[in-house]
Amino acid sequence: MTPPASRSVRLTGWGRYAPSQVLTNADLERMVDTSDDWIVSRTGIRERRVAAAHESTASMGAVAGLRAIHTAGLRPDDIDVIILGTLTPDYWMPSTAALVKEAIGNTRASAFDVMAACSGFVYGYATATAYIQAGLAKHVLVIGSELLTRFLDFTDRGTCILFGDGAGAVVLSASEEPTSPVGIELTTEPQGAYMIWLPAGGSVAPPSTETIAKGQHKIRMEGRETYRFATRTLASTALAAVGKAGWTQDDVDLIVPHQANVRIIEAVAKGLDLPMERIYVNLDRYGNTSAASVPIALAEAVNEGRVKVGDRIVFVAFGAGFTSGAVALEWTADPARGRDADDAIRPESVHVRPPVDWDSVDPIPAALAEVLARPLPVDLDLSDVVPDEPAPAQPEPAAQPVSR
Ligand code: UT7
Repeated sequence: MTPPASRSVRLTGWGRYAPSQVLTNADLERMVDTSDDWIVSRTGIRERRVAAAHESTASMGAVAGLRAIHTAGLRPDDIDVIILGTLTPDYWMPSTAALVKEAIGNTRASAFDVMAACSGFVYGYATATAYIQAGLAKHVLVIGSELLTRFLDFTDRGTCILFGDGAGAVVLSASEEPTSPVGIELTTEPQGAYMIWLPAGGSVAPPSTETIAKGQHKIRMEGRETYRFATRTLASTALAAVGKAGWTQDDVDLIVPHQANVRIIEAVAKGLDLPMERIYVNLDRYGNTSAASVPIALAEAVNEGRVKVGDRIVFVAFGAGFTSGAVALEWTADPARGRDADDAIRPESVHVRPPVDWDSVDPIPAALAEVLARPLPVDLDLSDVVPDEPAPAQPEPAAQPVSR
Protein backbone atom coordinates (compact mmCIF):
# COMPACT_ATOMS: atom_id res chain seq x y z
CA MET A 1 0.00 0.00 0.00
CA THR A 2 2.04 3.00 -1.20
CA PRO A 3 0.12 6.28 -1.20
CA PRO A 4 0.00 8.34 -4.39
CA ALA A 5 2.52 11.17 -4.27
CA SER A 6 -0.21 13.73 -5.05
CA ARG A 7 -2.07 13.57 -1.70
CA SER A 8 0.36 13.70 1.15
CA VAL A 9 -0.42 12.67 4.73
CA ARG A 10 1.48 14.18 7.65
CA LEU A 11 1.60 13.30 11.30
CA THR A 12 0.88 16.69 12.91
CA GLY A 13 0.00 15.86 16.54
CA TRP A 14 0.90 13.36 19.24
CA GLY A 15 0.04 12.89 22.90
CA ARG A 16 -0.19 10.28 25.60
CA TYR A 17 -1.75 9.68 28.99
CA ALA A 18 -0.63 7.29 31.74
CA PRO A 19 -2.65 6.89 34.96
CA SER A 20 -0.73 7.87 38.10
CA GLN A 21 -1.17 4.65 40.11
CA VAL A 22 1.91 2.39 39.77
CA LEU A 23 1.88 -1.41 40.18
CA THR A 24 5.43 -2.67 40.75
CA ASN A 25 6.91 -6.13 40.37
CA ALA A 26 7.15 -6.20 44.19
CA ASP A 27 3.36 -5.68 44.33
CA LEU A 28 2.89 -8.65 41.98
CA GLU A 29 5.13 -10.77 44.21
CA ARG A 30 2.37 -10.38 46.82
CA MET A 31 -0.29 -11.64 44.40
CA VAL A 32 1.25 -14.59 42.51
CA ASP A 33 4.26 -16.89 42.71
CA THR A 34 6.71 -14.66 40.84
CA SER A 35 9.72 -12.45 41.50
CA ASP A 36 11.08 -9.11 40.38
CA ASP A 37 14.15 -10.97 39.06
CA TRP A 38 12.06 -13.32 36.91
CA ILE A 39 9.90 -10.54 35.48
CA VAL A 40 12.82 -8.22 34.72
CA SER A 41 15.03 -10.92 33.19
CA ARG A 42 12.24 -12.53 31.10
CA THR A 43 10.39 -9.38 30.02
CA GLY A 44 12.25 -6.17 30.97
CA ILE A 45 9.17 -4.85 32.79
CA ARG A 46 9.67 -3.17 36.19
CA GLU A 47 6.32 -1.48 36.73
CA ARG A 48 3.04 -0.69 34.99
CA ARG A 49 0.20 1.80 35.49
CA VAL A 50 -3.30 1.06 36.77
CA ALA A 51 -6.32 3.23 35.94
CA ALA A 52 -8.30 4.60 38.90
CA ALA A 53 -11.92 3.54 39.47
CA HIS A 54 -13.27 6.73 37.84
CA GLU A 55 -11.16 6.22 34.70
CA SER A 56 -12.01 4.21 31.61
CA THR A 57 -10.62 3.42 28.17
CA ALA A 58 -12.64 6.36 26.80
CA SER A 59 -11.50 8.85 29.46
CA MET A 60 -7.82 7.95 28.98
CA GLY A 61 -8.22 8.03 25.20
CA ALA A 62 -9.90 11.45 25.42
CA VAL A 63 -6.99 12.93 27.41
CA ALA A 64 -4.39 11.50 25.00
CA GLY A 65 -6.52 12.61 22.03
CA LEU A 66 -6.89 16.19 23.30
CA ARG A 67 -3.14 16.34 23.89
CA ALA A 68 -2.51 15.21 20.28
CA ILE A 69 -4.99 17.83 18.99
CA HIS A 70 -3.26 20.50 21.12
CA THR A 71 0.14 19.48 19.70
CA ALA A 72 -1.24 19.71 16.17
CA GLY A 73 -2.40 23.28 16.90
CA LEU A 74 -6.00 22.32 16.10
CA ARG A 75 -9.36 22.56 17.88
CA PRO A 76 -11.37 19.40 18.65
CA ASP A 77 -13.94 20.37 16.02
CA ASP A 78 -11.29 20.38 13.29
CA ILE A 79 -11.19 16.57 13.50
CA ASP A 80 -13.20 14.80 10.74
CA VAL A 81 -12.77 11.18 11.86
CA ILE A 82 -11.92 9.54 15.20
CA ILE A 83 -10.51 5.99 15.03
CA LEU A 84 -9.77 4.19 18.29
CA GLY A 85 -7.89 0.90 18.60
CA THR A 86 -8.68 -1.12 21.73
CA LEU A 87 -9.37 -4.62 23.00
CA THR A 88 -10.78 -3.26 26.27
CA PRO A 89 -13.68 -1.00 25.20
CA ASP A 90 -15.86 0.77 27.79
CA TYR A 91 -18.88 -1.15 26.43
CA TRP A 92 -19.63 -3.56 23.59
CA MET A 93 -21.65 -0.70 22.21
CA PRO A 94 -21.45 2.19 21.58
CA SER A 95 -17.91 2.37 20.31
CA THR A 96 -15.37 3.86 22.68
CA ALA A 97 -14.52 6.34 19.89
CA ALA A 98 -18.10 7.68 20.08
CA LEU A 99 -17.66 8.33 23.83
CA VAL A 100 -14.34 10.05 23.15
CA LYS A 101 -15.97 12.25 20.52
CA GLU A 102 -18.44 13.66 23.06
CA ALA A 103 -15.80 13.95 25.80
CA ILE A 104 -13.42 16.03 23.66
CA GLY A 105 -16.23 18.35 22.51
CA ASN A 106 -16.20 17.37 18.85
CA THR A 107 -19.52 17.83 17.02
CA ARG A 108 -18.53 16.84 13.48
CA ALA A 109 -16.47 13.66 13.33
CA SER A 110 -17.47 10.14 12.42
CA ALA A 111 -16.13 7.82 15.11
CA PHE A 112 -15.47 4.10 15.27
CA ASP A 113 -13.29 1.49 16.95
CA VAL A 114 -10.78 -0.84 15.32
CA MET A 115 -10.37 -4.33 16.79
CA ALA A 116 -6.93 -5.66 15.93
CA ALA A 117 -5.70 -6.18 19.52
CA CYS A 118 -2.17 -4.84 20.09
CA SER A 119 -1.90 -3.93 16.39
CA GLY A 120 -5.06 -1.78 16.72
CA PHE A 121 -3.26 1.55 16.66
CA VAL A 122 -1.22 0.63 13.57
CA TYR A 123 -4.35 -0.67 11.80
CA GLY A 124 -6.12 2.59 12.78
CA TYR A 125 -3.18 4.59 11.44
CA ALA A 126 -3.41 2.75 8.10
CA THR A 127 -7.17 3.38 7.96
CA ALA A 128 -6.69 7.08 8.70
CA THR A 129 -4.06 7.32 5.95
CA ALA A 130 -6.48 5.75 3.48
CA TYR A 131 -9.28 8.18 4.50
CA ILE A 132 -7.03 11.17 3.88
CA GLN A 133 -5.65 9.81 0.61
CA ALA A 134 -9.18 9.14 -0.61
CA GLY A 135 -10.18 12.73 0.15
CA LEU A 136 -12.71 11.65 2.80
CA ALA A 137 -11.05 13.55 5.65
CA LYS A 138 -8.58 16.35 6.29
CA HIS A 139 -7.72 15.67 9.94
CA VAL A 140 -8.05 12.23 11.57
CA LEU A 141 -7.48 11.49 15.27
CA VAL A 142 -6.07 7.97 15.80
CA ILE A 143 -6.07 6.71 19.39
CA GLY A 144 -4.82 3.54 21.07
CA SER A 145 -6.32 3.19 24.56
CA GLU A 146 -6.40 0.20 26.91
CA LEU A 147 -7.58 -0.63 30.39
CA LEU A 148 -6.16 -4.14 30.59
CA THR A 149 -5.92 -4.44 34.37
CA ARG A 150 -9.70 -5.02 34.54
CA PHE A 151 -9.42 -8.03 32.21
CA LEU A 152 -6.52 -9.82 33.85
CA ASP A 153 -6.62 -13.00 35.89
CA PHE A 154 -4.57 -12.05 38.95
CA THR A 155 -4.04 -15.73 39.74
CA ASP A 156 -2.32 -16.39 36.36
CA ARG A 157 1.34 -15.41 36.63
CA GLY A 158 1.82 -15.99 32.91
CA THR A 159 -0.34 -12.99 31.97
CA CYS A 160 -0.96 -10.68 34.95
CA ILE A 161 2.67 -9.54 35.14
CA LEU A 162 2.74 -8.30 31.56
CA PHE A 163 -0.01 -5.75 31.04
CA GLY A 164 -0.79 -2.18 32.09
CA ASP A 165 -3.14 0.73 31.34
CA GLY A 166 -2.72 3.90 29.29
CA ALA A 167 -3.49 5.73 26.05
CA GLY A 168 -1.67 7.40 23.17
CA ALA A 169 -2.87 9.30 20.13
CA VAL A 170 -1.78 11.02 16.94
CA VAL A 171 -3.40 13.45 14.50
CA LEU A 172 -2.88 12.78 10.79
CA SER A 173 -3.54 15.68 8.43
CA ALA A 174 -3.78 16.18 4.68
CA SER A 175 -0.98 18.40 3.45
CA GLU A 176 -0.24 20.41 0.33
CA GLU A 177 3.48 19.97 1.05
CA PRO A 178 5.10 16.99 -0.67
CA THR A 179 6.09 14.24 1.76
CA SER A 180 8.18 11.17 1.15
CA PRO A 181 6.02 8.07 0.67
CA VAL A 182 4.54 6.28 3.68
CA GLY A 183 5.08 2.51 3.68
CA ILE A 184 2.39 0.40 5.34
CA GLU A 185 2.27 -3.36 5.87
CA LEU A 186 -0.60 -5.20 7.65
CA THR A 187 -0.85 -8.97 8.16
CA THR A 188 -3.15 -11.47 9.90
CA GLU A 189 -2.04 -15.07 10.46
CA PRO A 190 -4.64 -17.71 9.62
CA GLN A 191 -3.82 -20.01 12.57
CA GLY A 192 -3.38 -17.40 15.26
CA ALA A 193 -6.94 -17.10 16.52
CA TYR A 194 -6.79 -18.71 19.96
CA MET A 195 -3.28 -17.78 21.02
CA ILE A 196 -4.35 -14.67 22.91
CA TRP A 197 -8.07 -14.45 23.57
CA LEU A 198 -10.86 -13.58 25.93
CA PRO A 199 -13.28 -16.52 25.70
CA ALA A 200 -16.59 -15.26 27.09
CA GLY A 201 -18.81 -12.22 26.74
CA GLY A 202 -19.30 -12.49 22.97
CA SER A 203 -21.99 -14.28 20.96
CA VAL A 204 -20.29 -17.71 21.23
CA ALA A 205 -20.27 -17.64 25.03
CA PRO A 206 -22.60 -14.86 26.24
CA PRO A 207 -21.97 -13.72 29.82
CA SER A 208 -23.50 -16.02 32.42
CA THR A 209 -22.81 -17.08 36.00
CA GLU A 210 -21.15 -20.16 34.49
CA THR A 211 -18.74 -18.19 32.28
CA ILE A 212 -17.90 -15.98 35.23
CA ALA A 213 -17.35 -18.97 37.53
CA LYS A 214 -14.94 -20.41 34.94
CA GLY A 215 -13.02 -17.13 34.76
CA GLN A 216 -13.71 -16.89 31.03
CA HIS A 217 -13.91 -13.09 31.04
CA LYS A 218 -10.19 -12.77 31.58
CA ILE A 219 -7.37 -12.70 29.03
CA ARG A 220 -5.74 -16.04 28.22
CA MET A 221 -2.51 -16.47 26.34
CA GLU A 222 -0.17 -19.10 24.96
CA GLY A 223 2.97 -17.19 25.94
CA ARG A 224 5.59 -19.28 24.15
CA GLU A 225 3.63 -19.51 20.88
CA THR A 226 3.00 -15.77 20.98
CA TYR A 227 6.67 -15.15 21.63
CA ARG A 228 7.63 -17.30 18.64
CA PHE A 229 5.16 -15.51 16.38
CA ALA A 230 6.41 -12.10 17.50
CA THR A 231 10.08 -12.87 16.97
CA ARG A 232 9.29 -14.39 13.53
CA THR A 233 7.01 -11.62 12.32
CA LEU A 234 7.97 -8.24 13.74
CA ALA A 235 11.19 -7.76 11.79
CA SER A 236 9.70 -9.03 8.51
CA THR A 237 6.61 -6.79 8.87
CA ALA A 238 8.82 -3.77 9.61
CA LEU A 239 11.05 -4.64 6.67
CA ALA A 240 8.07 -4.90 4.30
CA ALA A 241 6.88 -1.39 5.34
CA VAL A 242 10.43 -0.04 4.94
CA GLY A 243 10.58 -1.56 1.43
CA LYS A 244 7.23 0.00 0.49
CA ALA A 245 8.56 3.40 1.54
CA GLY A 246 11.46 2.81 -0.85
CA TRP A 247 14.12 2.57 1.86
CA THR A 248 16.43 -0.08 3.24
CA GLN A 249 16.73 -0.73 6.98
CA ASP A 250 19.98 1.27 7.08
CA ASP A 251 17.91 4.38 6.29
CA VAL A 252 15.82 3.98 9.46
CA ASP A 253 16.64 6.41 12.30
CA LEU A 254 14.24 5.07 14.93
CA ILE A 255 12.03 2.00 15.34
CA VAL A 256 9.12 2.36 17.76
CA PRO A 257 8.05 -1.24 18.39
CA HIS A 258 5.13 -2.66 20.35
CA GLN A 259 6.34 -2.76 23.96
CA ALA A 260 5.58 -6.38 24.87
CA ASN A 261 8.89 -7.90 25.93
CA VAL A 262 12.43 -6.52 25.70
CA ARG A 263 13.65 -9.90 24.43
CA ILE A 264 11.21 -9.65 21.52
CA ILE A 265 12.42 -6.09 20.85
CA GLU A 266 16.04 -7.28 20.89
CA ALA A 267 15.10 -9.97 18.37
CA VAL A 268 13.64 -7.25 16.09
CA ALA A 269 16.90 -5.30 16.35
CA LYS A 270 18.82 -8.44 15.44
CA GLY A 271 16.42 -9.30 12.59
CA LEU A 272 16.85 -5.82 11.14
CA ASP A 273 20.57 -5.73 11.91
CA LEU A 274 20.12 -2.43 13.77
CA PRO A 275 21.75 -1.42 17.09
CA MET A 276 19.44 -1.09 20.14
CA GLU A 277 20.22 2.68 20.15
CA ARG A 278 17.93 2.95 17.14
CA ILE A 279 15.05 1.21 18.92
CA TYR A 280 12.86 3.02 21.46
CA VAL A 281 12.04 1.11 24.66
CA ASN A 282 9.87 2.26 27.58
CA LEU A 283 8.24 -1.02 28.63
CA ASP A 284 10.20 -1.03 31.90
CA ARG A 285 7.82 1.76 33.07
CA TYR A 286 4.51 0.77 31.46
CA GLY A 287 4.56 -2.95 30.65
CA ASN A 288 2.49 -4.00 27.65
CA THR A 289 -0.35 -1.52 27.05
CA SER A 290 -1.52 -3.32 23.90
CA ALA A 291 -2.93 -0.87 21.30
CA ALA A 292 -1.71 2.07 23.41
CA SER A 293 1.91 0.95 23.51
CA VAL A 294 3.15 2.31 20.15
CA PRO A 295 1.51 5.78 20.43
CA ILE A 296 2.65 6.16 24.08
CA ALA A 297 6.20 5.19 23.07
CA LEU A 298 6.11 7.48 20.03
CA ALA A 299 4.93 10.52 22.06
CA GLU A 300 7.62 9.90 24.68
CA ALA A 301 10.37 9.36 22.08
CA VAL A 302 9.51 12.65 20.36
CA ASN A 303 9.13 14.63 23.60
CA GLU A 304 12.45 13.23 24.88
CA GLY A 305 14.25 14.57 21.79
CA ARG A 306 14.83 11.20 20.10
CA VAL A 307 13.23 12.39 16.83
CA LYS A 308 14.07 15.33 14.54
CA VAL A 309 12.59 16.67 11.32
CA GLY A 310 13.63 14.47 8.40
CA ASP A 311 14.12 11.33 10.51
CA ARG A 312 12.81 8.08 9.12
CA ILE A 313 10.63 6.35 11.69
CA VAL A 314 9.02 2.91 11.75
CA PHE A 315 6.20 1.81 14.10
CA VAL A 316 5.65 -1.92 14.30
CA ALA A 317 3.21 -3.99 16.37
CA PHE A 318 1.85 -7.51 16.72
CA GLY A 319 -0.98 -9.00 18.73
CA ALA A 320 -3.95 -11.33 19.07
CA GLY A 321 -5.32 -12.65 15.85
CA PHE A 322 -2.38 -13.02 15.19
CA THR A 323 -2.13 -9.56 13.64
CA SER A 324 0.89 -7.47 12.83
CA GLY A 325 1.37 -4.08 11.25
CA ALA A 326 4.07 -1.54 10.49
CA VAL A 327 4.20 2.05 9.24
CA ALA A 328 7.34 3.70 7.82
CA LEU A 329 7.22 7.51 7.59
CA GLU A 330 9.42 10.56 7.43
CA TRP A 331 9.02 12.89 10.44
CA THR A 332 7.94 16.42 9.44
CA ALA A 333 6.54 18.11 12.60
CA ASP A 334 8.51 20.31 15.00
CA PRO A 335 9.31 17.86 17.85
CA ALA A 336 9.11 20.69 20.43
CA ARG A 337 5.38 21.17 19.81
CA GLY A 338 4.32 18.33 22.10
CA ARG A 339 6.23 19.32 25.21
CA ASP A 340 3.54 21.46 26.88
CA ALA A 341 0.60 19.18 26.00
CA ASP A 342 0.57 17.42 29.40
CA ASP A 343 0.27 20.76 31.23
CA ALA A 344 -2.23 22.20 28.75
CA ILE A 345 -4.63 19.22 28.97
CA ARG A 346 -5.21 18.04 32.54
CA PRO A 347 -7.03 14.72 33.07
CA GLU A 348 -9.26 16.20 35.80
CA SER A 349 -10.85 18.57 33.25
CA VAL A 350 -11.81 15.77 30.80
CA HIS A 351 -15.07 13.91 31.47
CA VAL A 352 -16.88 11.04 29.79
CA ARG A 353 -20.63 11.39 30.36
CA PRO A 354 -21.94 8.47 32.47
CA PRO A 355 -25.11 6.63 31.45
CA VAL A 356 -28.48 7.75 32.90
CA ASP A 357 -29.91 5.66 35.79
CA TRP A 358 -26.75 3.62 36.04
CA ASP A 359 -25.90 1.92 39.33
CA SER A 360 -22.14 2.09 39.09
CA VAL A 361 -20.13 -0.92 40.20
CA ASP A 362 -16.61 -0.89 41.64
CA PRO A 363 -14.60 -1.84 38.54
CA ILE A 364 -11.28 -2.64 40.24
CA PRO A 365 -10.61 -6.40 40.61
CA ALA A 366 -10.58 -7.35 44.32
CA ALA A 367 -7.04 -8.82 44.25
CA LEU A 368 -5.71 -5.62 42.71
CA ALA A 369 -7.61 -3.33 45.09
CA GLU A 370 -6.11 -5.21 48.04
CA VAL A 371 -2.53 -4.77 46.83
CA LEU A 372 -3.04 -1.15 45.77
CA ALA A 373 -4.33 -0.34 49.25
CA ARG A 374 -0.75 -0.80 50.51
CA PRO A 375 0.26 1.75 53.14
CA LEU A 376 2.34 4.51 51.60
CA PRO A 377 5.96 4.55 52.75
CA VAL A 378 6.26 7.03 55.66
CA ASP A 379 9.13 9.44 55.22
CA LEU A 380 9.53 11.12 58.64
CA ASP A 381 11.95 13.99 59.06
CA LEU A 382 13.81 13.13 62.28
CA SER A 383 16.59 15.74 61.95
CA ASP A 384 15.23 18.01 64.72
CA VAL A 385 14.49 15.22 67.19
CA VAL A 386 16.87 15.49 70.20
CA PRO A 387 17.46 12.17 71.92
CA ASP A 388 16.27 12.47 75.53
CA GLU A 389 14.99 10.45 78.43
CA PRO A 390 11.46 9.35 77.66
CA ALA A 391 8.92 11.40 79.66
CA PRO A 392 7.51 9.48 82.64
CA ALA A 393 4.19 7.91 81.82
CA GLN A 394 1.16 9.55 83.45
CA PRO A 395 -0.22 7.38 86.24
CA GLU A 396 -3.52 5.78 85.36
CA PRO A 397 -6.37 7.61 87.17
CA ALA A 398 -7.71 5.53 90.08
CA ALA A 399 -10.78 3.60 89.08
CA GLN A 400 -13.97 5.26 90.34
CA PRO A 401 -16.58 3.08 91.98
CA VAL A 402 -19.52 2.70 89.65
CA SER A 403 -22.73 3.92 91.29
CA ARG A 404 -25.80 1.86 90.51
O1 UT7 B 1 0.93 -8.10 22.96
C1 UT7 B 1 1.18 -9.46 22.85
C2 UT7 B 1 1.11 -10.02 24.20
N1 UT7 B 1 1.84 -11.15 24.53
C3 UT7 B 1 3.18 -11.27 24.53
O2 UT7 B 1 3.94 -10.49 24.04
C4 UT7 B 1 3.69 -12.51 25.19
C5 UT7 B 1 4.87 -13.13 24.50
N2 UT7 B 1 5.49 -14.13 25.38
C6 UT7 B 1 6.35 -13.76 26.35
O3 UT7 B 1 6.67 -12.60 26.51
C7 UT7 B 1 6.94 -14.87 27.20
O4 UT7 B 1 6.59 -16.12 26.65
C8 UT7 B 1 6.48 -14.79 28.69
C9 UT7 B 1 7.11 -13.59 29.35
C10 UT7 B 1 4.98 -14.73 28.78
C11 UT7 B 1 6.98 -16.04 29.40
O5 UT7 B 1 8.39 -16.12 29.30
P1 UT7 B 1 9.08 -17.48 28.85
O6 UT7 B 1 10.54 -17.26 28.91
O7 UT7 B 1 8.49 -17.85 27.52
O8 UT7 B 1 8.64 -18.46 29.97
P2 UT7 B 1 7.85 -19.85 29.81
O9 UT7 B 1 6.43 -19.62 29.52
O10 UT7 B 1 8.65 -20.73 28.89
O11 UT7 B 1 7.98 -20.42 31.29
C12 UT7 B 1 9.25 -20.75 31.87
C13 UT7 B 1 9.02 -21.07 33.33
C14 UT7 B 1 7.84 -22.03 33.55
O12 UT7 B 1 8.17 -22.85 34.63
P3 UT7 B 1 8.69 -24.37 34.38
O13 UT7 B 1 7.58 -25.04 33.63
O14 UT7 B 1 9.94 -24.21 33.58
O15 UT7 B 1 8.90 -24.87 35.77
C15 UT7 B 1 6.72 -21.12 33.97
O16 UT7 B 1 5.77 -21.77 34.78
O17 UT7 B 1 8.68 -19.87 34.03
C16 UT7 B 1 7.46 -20.07 34.74
N3 UT7 B 1 6.77 -18.79 34.81
C17 UT7 B 1 7.01 -17.90 35.78
N4 UT7 B 1 7.82 -17.91 36.84
C18 UT7 B 1 7.84 -16.84 37.66
C19 UT7 B 1 5.84 -18.32 33.96
N5 UT7 B 1 5.46 -17.08 34.38
C20 UT7 B 1 6.16 -16.81 35.50
C21 UT7 B 1 6.20 -15.72 36.38
N6 UT7 B 1 7.05 -15.77 37.44
N7 UT7 B 1 5.44 -14.61 36.20
